[in-house]
Amino acid sequence: MRATGLLAAIGVLGLFVNYTSHHYWWHDPPIIYPLKFNHGGTGALADICPQVRQLIPHSNLEIWVSLGATYDTDVFKAKAVSWLAGAVQVPTESYDYLGPVGTDPRWEKFHAFHAYLRKAFPLIHAELELTKVNTYGLIFVWKGLNERLKPLLLAAHQDVVPVEPTTVDKWTHPPFSGHFDGTFVWGRGSCDDKSGLIGTMSAVEAMLANGYEPTRTVVLAFGFDEESGGVHGARTLSAKLEEMFGQNGFAMIVDEGSGYGELYDRIIAMPGISEKGSVNVRVEVTTPGGHSSLPPPHTSIGILAELLVKIEANPFKTHLARNSPPYKTIQCLAAHAPNLPDHLRRDILASAYSDKALRVAESVLFTNLAFKNLVRTTQAIDIIQGGVKVNALPERAWAVVNHRISTESSVAATEGHDIDLLRPLASKFNLSYTAFGKTVDHGDHLDASPTCGNLTLSEAFRGGLEPAPTTPFEGDDAMPYQILSGSIKAAFNRHRSIEGDDDGIVVSPGIMSGNTDTKFYWKLTPHIFRYGHIRSISGTLPPNIHTVNEAMSIDNFLEIIRFYTTLVLNVDESALP
Ligand SMILES: *[C@@H]1O[C@H](CO)[C@@H](O)[C@H](O)[C@H]1NC(C)=O
Ligand SMILES: *[C@@H]1O[C@H](CO)[C@@H](O)[C@H](O)[C@H]1NC(C)=O
Repeated sequence: MRATGLLAAIGVLGLFVNYTSHHYWWHDPPIIYPLKFNHGGTGALADICPQVRQLIPHSNLEIWVSLGATYDTDVFKAKAVSWLAGAVQVPTESYDYLGPVGTDPRWEKFHAFHAYLRKAFPLIHAELELTKVNTYGLIFVWKGLNERLKPLLLAAHQDVVPVEPTTVDKWTHPPFSGHFDGTFVWGRGSCDDKSGLIGTMSAVEAMLANGYEPTRTVVLAFGFDEESGGVHGARTLSAKLEEMFGQNGFAMIVDEGSGYGELYDRIIAMPGISEKGSVNVRVEVTTPGGHSSLPPPHTSIGILAELLVKIEANPFKTHLARNSPPYKTIQCLAAHAPNLPDHLRRDILASAYSDKALRVAESVLFTNLAFKNLVRTTQAIDIIQGGVKVNALPERAWAVVNHRISTESSVAATEGHDIDLLRPLASKFNLSYTAFGKTVDHGDHLDASPTCGNLTLSEAFRGGLEPAPTTPFEGDDAMPYQILSGSIKAAFNRHRSIEGDDDGIVVSPGIMSGNTDTKFYWKLTPHIFRYGHIRSISGTLPPNIHTVNEAMSIDNFLEIIRFYTTLVLNVDESALP
């Protein structure tokens, strides 16, 4: 995933810090049970972060039980190890600035990955319909018996981030070894996102081996440049998926994303129900050149420096909005995490109706910079350039400011903030000011003298990305969220042979700090979840996403396969349209 999506939601907050009882709840309204422990509050608290019960398949019970037993065997475990390790062994790095498919030879390694998948998953290749999009994008369609039901889309990406050459010898096992030490499969992509891609395919291959025929169509879609923005992969897959299944043609989408882990003594899973937006603003100053021996008081570089100081001195103001995903996450902690500090819990619970309590809770929560960054629109000056020679005045200097846009804001509001912030300085330096194609200020208002130069703001690289629409997670339209929640609980419990405990793992709405391939999938369904059932706190090694020693415990990987299996079977028999 891009940026630190996976663990951000959980890691951030952590800084403070039986299947014999079946529940066939889609035939009845989902059972929402009240808070487990008493805060001395009123009944209204029961509405905060309501939980559904674990969801064991009903008409698909037999195959769920049978596959569950298969997954417990050493034979299947060995197969799972070889599936994942084999995928890690085929390097599939993607890079920034890749040329189009067909022109840039660096894409060609994906042929080897496809060949690996063909060999490893023969039943999928024999029985599902495969469409390749832009050569390397993969869509597998597993046709259901009832074609009127909207399909389930499971997404993942084939590519991995490159290994920084100077870090190669810091790896305990070489990054593309796929070495299995009895506990972990090591290597780049073992978590992000080959655990999702291979986990999905393993579940489907196992279901096919069991003779399962879905009622509802299941679609697998695998991009190949998620780590560099998805423009060649997910963007083209999205157009094809829309052509094949129509706008709003899917019951729900589950792509990579957050996992689960322990927070304040409660295990919490946090499916991402939204993603922040982004925009890169290029700030460019041009002034007349000349010989350095006769300089003006400020060169382009000096002026740019002052603009950048101003930007950093004025971060975006932020408040926790009650309907924002981060607020929902915090409420869920207050409702379900036993060891949240009492004063914080009190303020969070009271903040539902008291503005004062909201401000107090916020002031405590925002001392955690990572959390604050998740909530607000951020700014990071990431690139700067200017000047060519020591005796020539710089005619041009520019910098790029990367913004990650709050779910409560927009590209236009972010750009508007920058425009207004720099206006006084444009005027102070007598610059003619143009922003995003529109004249802001001619700079010649003071008198008839010519302007001293130009200030231009523009969108660098690709245009801005709006924050993702929030996936429904409460109210009438929340059944996909509830099915996902119930499936997470059932997989978690079955994996530990816990019987009938609906509370072993709590599910909370979460938010992604980065973006996934789903940024291209908004038209396909409103029900998009970024969730991979990856354990973030395993008591041993962390997964090390995007850095040295990325590794996936085989026990977690088997649980991931259980999760996808449970989800497919539950969605299959659900009352979703
Ligand atoms: C400022 O922009 C105007 C209009 O594009 C251009 O004619 C002028 O040369 C620019 N001035 C500098 C110093 O770059
Ligand atoms: C801007 O223009 C005004 C009026 O022409 C002049 O007095 C001032 O020195 C100029 N400022 C700069 C930074 O060039």
